[in-house]
Amino acid sequence: MTEARKRTAQDFKILDEIGEGSYSSVVHAIEKDTQIEYAIKILNKRHIVKEKKEKYVKVEKDALSLLKHPLIVRLYYTFQDSSSLCIYCMIQFLDFVLDYAKNGDLLQLIKNAGKFSVQVARFYAAEILLAIEYMHSRDIIHSYLKWRFINRDLKPENILVMENGHIKVTDFGTARILETSDRGRAFSFVGTAEYVAPELLTIKEVTKSADLWAFGCIIYQMLTGIVPFKGGSEYLTFEKIKSGEYSFSDDFPEEAKSLVQLLLVADPIKRIGSDESDYKSIKNHQFFNGIDWDTIINSDAPEIE
Ligand code: ADE
Repeated sequence: MTEARKRTAQDFKILDEIGEGSYSSVVHAIEKDTQIEYAIKILNKRHIVKEKKEKYVKVEKDALSLLKHPLIVRLYYTFQDSSSLCIYCMIQFLDFVLDYAKNGDLLQLIKNAGKFSVQVARFYAAEILLAIEYMHSRDIIHSYLKWRFINRDLKPENILVMENGHIKVTDFGTARILETSDRGRAFSFVGTAEYVAPELLTIKEVTKSADLWAFGCIIYQMLTGIVPFKGGSEYLTFEKIKSGEYSFSDDFPEEAKSLVQLLLVADPIKRIGSDESDYKSIKNHQFFNGIDWDTIINSDAPEIE
């Protein structure tokens, strides 16, 4: 097999900037030879080193390199370059060439629509579940790092929507790739087991089930336009999450209600699907009635009304 030709920044024409983070920006670009559109995530290496963020960049690259699935953003090439605008200042960039999602992200679509119909939410939820199932089959937990700071990272901003209406999950900078020895859990215990306080185990043990909690939050948000847990400050939001304090409006769709209730369970072991690898019990929930799990990713995506 012949090796794919190494790409450089010169192979691409940058069209516009589509996102900006503290140490990276995402641009819409086109490959000159093929006219294929890509999103290029440009990471400022000096900034990364200064902010000690190398491990996030490494985990993102490693996770993306392991994941090859139609519902997950594909990493096509990586390369390093110096800014052509600044040849003397030695700014080095690390570039990730990714799928380009023309329709933006799910958060924007929810905001534009106000909220989704049950039919639209069901379609996106089904695709998100298939993406989670695949990531977990590769022992990758999307929500890992942020979850340790009690936040969720699998969120609508990280679910991109392609021109054909199908999703691609992105942003693996906070993911966790499980070692063979810690399948199912993501806390490698260091210390003497006999003396560890129980709360250390419960707080530090992050399992794949953290992504299922995030999944419950996303279903709720698609159907209402708002997140289930929101306090006046980050601290108050955490308090609400910990006490499981959220409510359903009277018009919340009945068929989705019990699924959200089964996902937003504080104890990760008691969350629906937490003891499964194929998430059968979630797929068989009445909310997903009518979904053909084998063909959905090749079906026509619904119009967002
Ligand atoms: N591909 C990867 N990140 C993207 C983004 N922010 N917008 C569109 N496509 C992308």
